Amino acid sequence: MDEPMHILVLEDNGADMELVKRELRKAGLGFTAQWAQDKGAFMAALGTSAPDLILADYSLPGFDGLTALTMARQRWADVPVVIVSGAIGEEVAIETLKAGATDYVLKQRLSRLGPVVRRALAEARERAEKRRAEDALRELNATLESKVAQRTAELRHRARQLQTLSLELSQAEDRERKRVAALLHEDLQQQLAGMKLHLGMLASRVKKDAPSYSMAMELDRMFKEVIEKSRSLSHDLSPAVLHMNDLAELLHWLAKRVRTQHHLTVDVDISGDATLRSEAMTMFLFRAAQELLFNVVKHARVTEAAIRVRRIGRYVCLCVSDHGRGFDPQQLKETAGFGLFSIRERVELLGGRMKIKSAEGRGSTLHIVVPDGEAAPKAARTEGWGGLD
Ligand SMILES: Nc1ncnc2c1ncn2[C@@H]1O[C@H](COP(=O)(O)OP(=O)(O)OP(=O)(O)O)[C@@H](O)[C@H]1O
Ligand SMILES: [Mg+2]
Repeated sequence: MDEPMHILVLEDNGADMELVKRELRKAGLGFTAQWAQDKGAFMAALGTSAPDLILADYSLPGFDGLTALTMARQRWADVPVVIVSGAIGEEVAIETLKAGATDYVLKQRLSRLGPVVRRALAEARERAEKRRAEDALRELNATLESKVAQRTAELRHRARQLQTLSLELSQAEDRERKRVAALLHEDLQQQLAGMKLHLGMLASRVKKDAPSYSMAMELDRMFKEVIEKSRSLSHDLSPAVLHMNDLAELLHWLAKRVRTQHHLTVDVDISGDATLRSEAMTMFLFRAAQELLFNVVKHARVTEAAIRVRRIGRYVCLCVSDHGRGFDPQQLKETAGFGLFSIRERVELLGGRMKIKSAEGRGSTLHIVVPDGEAAPKAARTEGWGGLD
């Protein structure tokens, strides 16, 4: 047994109204019918709750099925409307379908009414279900979009935090180096110098005792060596020039030091202003250059290398190259080295990128691109690399 449906019937003729009801009953449809005989009654009925179905006569005194159809569509877009009419021409029938009627039934063939109503109701149900599914999908999409936006904002925030953390780590590292350097310089070296002074006094007293005197002289030589070593160590840890924020000056200093300590001649080529907005970034690039040059010393088996610094838009590009032994960058993961890994990690945290061009026997070129100031993680991939290849 079908659920009783609520039908609004626009019909001016009482006999026809009865015929319609009889046909519906005959078709086994359970229903309650609201009868509207004219425009006023029809409009009033539309104004209340939505019927499950509207049956509308086509020609009534002072009203017509087409207008009724338009009004019904405006009020209840999903309610099926079936035109039930005396003879109407084919053109009028098509016009009603175009205007949104679900179907039409001629009064002369009212036996069609049952199947037509059933189909109209089934279609309306399908439409409503589809609409519900679409609404649910739309809602889901909106939720997803807002979740994605929220996650993106969180990730951006996290990236900035990591960036700050990374710079702070570099700065903390440098502070610690300075502290140890000061300790070496001010404490240890002064104590060593004091000890050397006392040893000199002792030596002058044992001048006549040849074995003691030569032992004192040997100790004096060893003191000199230790003092020199601690001086060099404190210098390496935190050379005085590092207090400046001029990358060019730092790199020239580094080149000189690498030449005297490791016999590697470094050509430094800097174009444009090498004063960066952030001292921490300058320090980071300096330490990176130091590691890359030390790699040349350790691995490349050459006596010459080059450092190049360029500005590309908002980015600073540091490039260290040599014509030495070279290596396969793909194999890097298998090596135990930490230098390149650590540089790459930091560069990416700072919103930049590192690129290695090297092959066995073909030398190595390492590019580092970092933003000068505020970082923009994605932009580095396009903007910063443009002028490198
Ligand atoms: N300029 C270079 N020429 C030839 N090989 C290089 C060069 N730079 C790096 N490599 C190769 O890449 C590897 C990784 O370098 P990385 O700096 O990460 O580690 P490492 O220098 O071996 O050790 P660490 O830096 O931890 O002291 C090196 O072991 C070396 O094989
Ligand atoms: Mg290394």
